[in-house]
Amino acid sequence: MTTTRTFPEGFLWGGAIAANQAEGAWNVAGKGISTADTAMNKKNISKSDYKKQNAVSSEQLAAALEDQSTVNYPKRRGIDFYHRYPEDLALMGEMGIKTLRTSIAWTRIFPNGNETQPNEEGLLFYDRLLDEMIKNGIEPLVTLSHYEMPMYLVDHYGGWTSREVVDIFVRFTTTVFNRYKDKVKYWITFNEIDGIVRHPFTNGGIVPDRFENVEQAVYQALHHQFIASAYAVKLCHEIIPDAQIGCMLTSLLHYPHTCNPLDVLAAHKNNQFNLFFTDVQVRGTYPGYIERYFREQGITIEKAEGDSDLLKEYTADFISFSYYNSFVASADSEGLETVSGNTMGGVKNPYLPVSDWGWQIDPIGLRLALNHLYSRYQVPLFIVENGLGAYDNVEEDGTISDPYRIEYLRSHIEQMHEALLDGVEIMGYTVWGIIDLISYSSSEMEKRYGLIHVDQDNDGNGTLERRRKESFFWYQNLISNNGL
Ligand code: BG6
Repeated sequence: MTTTRTFPEGFLWGGAIAANQAEGAWNVAGKGISTADTAMNKKNISKSDYKKQNAVSSEQLAAALEDQSTVNYPKRRGIDFYHRYPEDLALMGEMGIKTLRTSIAWTRIFPNGNETQPNEEGLLFYDRLLDEMIKNGIEPLVTLSHYEMPMYLVDHYGGWTSREVVDIFVRFTTTVFNRYKDKVKYWITFNEIDGIVRHPFTNGGIVPDRFENVEQAVYQALHHQFIASAYAVKLCHEIIPDAQIGCMLTSLLHYPHTCNPLDVLAAHKNNQFNLFFTDVQVRGTYPGYIERYFREQGITIEKAEGDSDLLKEYTADFISFSYYNSFVASADSEGLETVSGNTMGGVKNPYLPVSDWGWQIDPIGLRLALNHLYSRYQVPLFIVENGLGAYDNVEEDGTISDPYRIEYLRSHIEQMHEALLDGVEIMGYTVWGIIDLISYSSSEMEKRYGLIHVDQDNDGNGTLERRRKESFFWYQNLISNNGL
């Protein structure tokens, strides 16, 4: 017998962006310089060289802080969402999305991070933005920290390695909860919190050449983020009792290369490590396998009194995650063909096609990820990033036909529906880069995720005009039928 369970009433179909990749206006209205503003365009680095794409040095940062030109730092200009949000939100409203995930740039509210008073102009910007979303029938879903922090905290505190940054972040969090408590009912603490182990600067403000033992610094910083996230949960429940707040993970599903138990073990270890972050944020304790890893690597985490209770008591209400691709693990990958993603790679899976950027496309992996997460934690899940980065072509008549994107989204949504039939509780689904924006890893514009096209190239040339792609109409229709 087949079940035809539909998407639940109120399912949050939506789109996702991040402040640092869309807003631009990096130095207006009192905004301070953030880590994202130092990211140069990396289109000349090979697509598969994700390590180089994510590398950061003191020398590079010093040059970025001196360089006031906007040409090579695409996130400084974004897609000018800062000024064009009314038009963009009207288009998204027309598309019918129920929610928009975006983030608040910490540096708009506290330019250096450690001020005691917030920057009113920055707060006003988000007042206007959130009001405009609501006006267009779009429920705000807000990430507190999406791949950026004040550069001042990097240079003067060593980023998240300093415990003081927890208090500084709590001040920021308290400020925005109090200010936007009537407008925002869905919050996310740290975007892809696990990313700190792969790109310490982006997530943790850690400049590797400033630390003797980078891994030790990374796990200390991560502990501080776990604590800051627990405080955010506590504060959110106190200040906005009718809101929900979730953690956020990059889903990095690994298959074994063969059925050799050693390959199975390699895949198991990778999957287990991927869930370490949610184990802490949802189960509330550091799991045994990671304590073992710390012992074996000589890593010691400094914890303050009360930390364990805090983690146990203030766990996330839901798990949100990004899903783009799956990976293959082998106990001995010597000589095997490899593929990459934006922050990591692995052995090639011969059964899967790849995107223009070499990412493996695996819709069934989404169903598996949903099932794994739900059976382990039994809390609602929210897919807050899924989408295809691809080259798009604007026809002479101005139309943009992107059947490859439609097929990517359609096949993933189909598998999400399968997971729903499997009994998985899913709150919503937001397409990453609902509007073309600056890519995270390579800071380029050509890698387009949007259902709305933005006329801008890698060097910032273009009219910034917005156009509806074929996928815009497809998603509009899908939402109006609640996914079926
Ligand atoms: C996720 C990030 O890792 O992947 C986004 O949360 C990012 O910020 C997205 O944009 C896609 O990666 P990229 O490098 O192609 O932009």
